[in-house]
This record gives sequence, C-alpha cells and structure tokens, in this order.
Amino acid sequence: MSGKKGIQNAPLRGRRVLVRVDFNVPLDAQGQIADDRRIVEALPTLDHLRTAGARTILMSHLGRPDGHRDPRLSLKPVARRLATLLGQPVPLAGDTVGIEAIEMTARLENGQFLLLENLRFHPGEEANDPAFAAQLARLGELFVEDAFGTVHRAHASTVGVPKRLPSFAGLLVEREVRELSRLVDRPERPYAVVVGGAKVADKLPLLASFLGRADDLLIGGALANPFLAARGVRLGASPVEEGLGEAVASFVRAAADAGTEVRLPTDVVVARPDRPDAETFPLDRIPDDAVVQDIGPATREAFVAALARSRTVFWNGPLGRAEDPRFAEGTRRVLGSLGAVEGYHVAAGGDSARLARDLGVEGGFRFISTGGGAALEFVQGLELPGLAVLPDA
Ligand code: 3PG
Repeated sequence: MSGKKGIQNAPLRGRRVLVRVDFNVPLDAQGQIADDRRIVEALPTLDHLRTAGARTILMSHLGRPDGHRDPRLSLKPVARRLATLLGQPVPLAGDTVGIEAIEMTARLENGQFLLLENLRFHPGEEANDPAFAAQLARLGELFVEDAFGTVHRAHASTVGVPKRLPSFAGLLVEREVRELSRLVDRPERPYAVVVGGAKVADKLPLLASFLGRADDLLIGGALANPFLAARGVRLGASPVEEGLGEAVASFVRAAADAGTEVRLPTDVVVARPDRPDAETFPLDRIPDDAVVQDIGPATREAFVAALARSRTVFWNGPLGRAEDPRFAEGTRRVLGSLGAVEGYHVAAGGDSARLARDLGVEGGFRFISTGGGAALEFVQGLELPGLAVLPDA
C-alpha cells in the first residue's frame, strides 16, 4: 500500500497533538498490566513528539466496556506505566471529553503529555458518533494515528477525528504497514503460512486469502480438526466444529486448484481421562476417549522441513494447547526452527507476540506485529478504515 503522510515533517512545536494509541493491554486478575509491549512500541512516536516540542494528548480504549464507565477498565495503570517509561508525569483526565479534559489540554506545555480516560466509556466512540468525534477533535490541532491494532475499526477516534483535523501516521503505524506490506506485495516465494488456534469459522476467510498467494499452508491446533474430520479421521473425544464439512471440503478443492499445498497433522498428542502424561498416536489409532492437544513429532518434522524450504513465513496462532507445557512442544519446535532459516518471518494476531516470547522462539521472527484483528485483516489485503482515512504522502 502507498505511504501515508508521516510525523517527520509535521509542524509539531507548541501544537496540541491528539494521538490515537492502542494501549489495549492485557490485565491480570489484580488489574495490573500483564504485558506492556503495546505501550513500549508507541515510545518512538512519543519520543519524537516530545523532542519536537509537541503538547501531546493521548487517547486509547481498554477492553470492551460497551459505552459504560467501568472502573476496572480505567487507563490509570497505563498512565502510571507510561510515566515510568517516559520518565515524566503523565496525568490522566477523569473523562475522555468535557470541561476537565479541555482545561487539562489547555494547560499542557511543550513536551508534556496528557492521557484521556478510556474512549469506550462513551457509546459515541464505537458508533463513530459525529458529535463525539467533534468533541474529541476540539481537544487537538493535529491528529496522529499510531494505534495500528485498532485501524480495522471505523470508530470516532480512528475515522471521525482524522476527518476533522490535519492527520499523520505515527512511527509505529508506518513500521507496521511497511513490514506487513512485504507479505501482501509480492512476497518472496516459497511462501509458507502457519496457522493454528481454535475456530475454523473465524479463520476460514484468512486461510482462503492465502490460496494462490502462498505455497504451503500449515494448519495445526483445534483448527485442523474439521479438516481431518472431513477426510474421515476419527478424532476420539476431540471437539470438532459442526456444520463446516462442505465449507472445508470446498476450501481444500480450491487450494488444489490454486496450487497451495494444505498440510495437516499426520500424528497427534492427546490427553485422556485419568492419564496425566501426554500420549502420541498416528491418525488411524486415536483412542475414543482421547482429546487432541498438539501436533505429533512426525508432523512437527514435516512442518519444519516445509519452513526450511521457504523464503517468507507468516505465523498466526498456536499449533496446540501451548499454554500447557505438555502440549507446547509442537508450536515450540516448529517456530523455534525459524531461527536457523534465512528469510522474512512475521508473526501477528492476538497473543502471538506473548506466546512467541513465552516459548522462547521470538528470535526467529524479523517482525512481530502489535496488531490482532488489524494485522490479520491487513495481510488478507483488506482495506482498513483507520488507514484509508489518512492522507497519502
Ligand atoms: C485489539 O486488541 O485487537 C485491538 O485493541 C482492538 O480491540 P477490539 O477487538 O476490542 O476492537
């Protein structure tokens, strides 16, 4: 996709700059930040604004409070973490818009920051309500989009505000677009895509978007179950999404026509009642009481061999129930092999970054996106409203 007007040449000194960031970070049971990667990844843009003497007003959502004020989803912990990372105070306005927010923005001095409270406490945010967008836009003189993880949403802060203010792409958005574009615009072949996770119904459009564009599609996790079931494999007590037989069969036919090789597990690791140890079975011998939890050793090596031949790799979703160490080996072995493979390797979607770090395989990736749904829509080649609205360079 073509480049967007960036902040490098924007007139920032002394200006009130309204920045959309994606500080939608995971919180633990105590309401503490479990992973601050999305905040850390915004720092280059925030540093640039500070050095340039901007008066920066940050806005983000956290969770899905559905238009209601929910104290458990306040951005308070985010303001504290950001202040530590920036080494300067980051006051939090008690509301996203209104008198207090207006007064606090008016008091900002060059190089200072203010964070507005959770955008989604207001129903106008997700509804892209023009009155709410106008209230937000009034707080700044310029707009910077740096919330890559949210550019697939047509909300007041992502679409309504940039329609009302001179707008620029932040450094994180520029980097995400530059890196992910390499998967969309003529990726170097062979191109292998590794997809795991749970729900086929959700991921079928993603998988379909790679037909003809990728050479190998490696499928693991519960996602593989309906494909195996469609081939007549008996999966014991494993859950198989129902009603997908025809969709899966026509997908497999389309893949053959498009020249994309769909690779499925040939053996599996299972859990069985009253047996604490993981057990491995070939597909034709899965016991009736077994639930498939991971790809087996033969499958891992077949997947590793396919990746070793590839020049481009895209990964989304675990190949087994990787949060349980007994069933993490498939994902670890396959993705861990990328460290020794030359090529362009990208991970994206949901918890992929955290999983890659927890499994110790992140070193094999050239780029790990901060986007979940946004990154998956981008690599499908879909138009993202929060990017489409930004002026081209
Ligand atoms: C994400 O985590 O994918 C983004 O922050 C968007 O959140 P949403 O799916 O609640 O819109």
